[in-house]
Amino acid sequence: MSNNLLKGKRGIIFGALNDQSIAWKVAERAHEEGAQFVLTNAPIAMRMGEINGLAEKTGSQIIPADATSIEDLENLVTKSMEILGGKIDFVLHSIGMSPNVRKGKHYTESNYQFYNQTMDVSAISLHKTLATLYKHDAISEWGSVVALTYIAAQRIFPDYNDMADAKSLLESITRSFGYHYGIKNKVRVNTISQSPTVTTAGQGIKGFTEFINFSDQMSPLGNAPAVACADYCISMFSDLTRYVTMQNLFHDGGFSNTGVTQQVIEKFGE
Ligand SMILES: NC(=O)c1ccc[n+]([C@@H]2O[C@H](COP(=O)([O-])OP(=O)(O)OC[C@H]3O[C@@H](n4cnc5c(N)ncnc54)[C@H](O)[C@@H]3O)[C@@H](O)[C@H]2O)c1
Repeated sequence: MSNNLLKGKRGIIFGALNDQSIAWKVAERAHEEGAQFVLTNAPIAMRMGEINGLAEKTGSQIIPADATSIEDLENLVTKSMEILGGKIDFVLHSIGMSPNVRKGKHYTESNYQFYNQTMDVSAISLHKTLATLYKHDAISEWGSVVALTYIAAQRIFPDYNDMADAKSLLESITRSFGYHYGIKNKVRVNTISQSPTVTTAGQGIKGFTEFINFSDQMSPLGNAPAVACADYCISMFSDLTRYVTMQNLFHDGGFSNTGVTQQVIEKFGE
């Protein structure tokens, strides 16, 4: 269903790897709502080639960029404005990766080179992206930047490992840059804290299937699906949320405010 919420808006969407990716659903919804955008992902992710199908479907061009490389980001920002014919109105940061999680390192025995990579890819990349956009004055007034996060930034979920630390930093960068970009050009910066979702990144977390079921039963509305997260991103990119900035917005079916549900407590009587 389209309401032309993003008609005439130009965007950059990071992180569509395959049709399970949250960014993929955001791209599909943004296209339906009338936006024009550039798709980007790490050059290594391009090799899988699936993003080409999304580009074709949404009439978008693809610009590869490693989000930890300032050089790649400079190229992305300048080329995107050329391709789209003007300043950018919305940006989705949908990037996460932890070598410690991938290699099964326990949190207490983190490899610090990996730890730095987790921070760089999953959090500092947002700072680098915002700094590049800021330097090039590339975002229009009232433009909107959304990054995806998870509640492990506030509460301990042991298997989320060093990604929890990265998400805390991501949310802090959102507040700090949101202040500076708000003052400079009325640009909004927010994070959306999404329910666990079956995607390539999500499935990298140990015990993910059990965890997703637990989360579902701990959420009065159930886990929020990826398409619903995409809808929320669209509303944050639209002009209907102009005064929302520097926030961490929970999109989790009520999980974050639930102590326990009847469904979960009953399991302890078994
Ligand atoms: N899946 C979940 O349960 C869940 C829950 C809450 C938040 N999130 C967050 O949502 C975002 C998107 O993840 P997803 O679940 O759609 O998984 P995904 O695996 O589809 O997306 C992660 C993306 O990050 C990209 N990426 C990794 N390193 C990069 C780099 N150096 N430069 C540029 N891109 C790079 C990958 O190529 C991939 O496209 C992440 O920030 C993730 O932490 C996911």
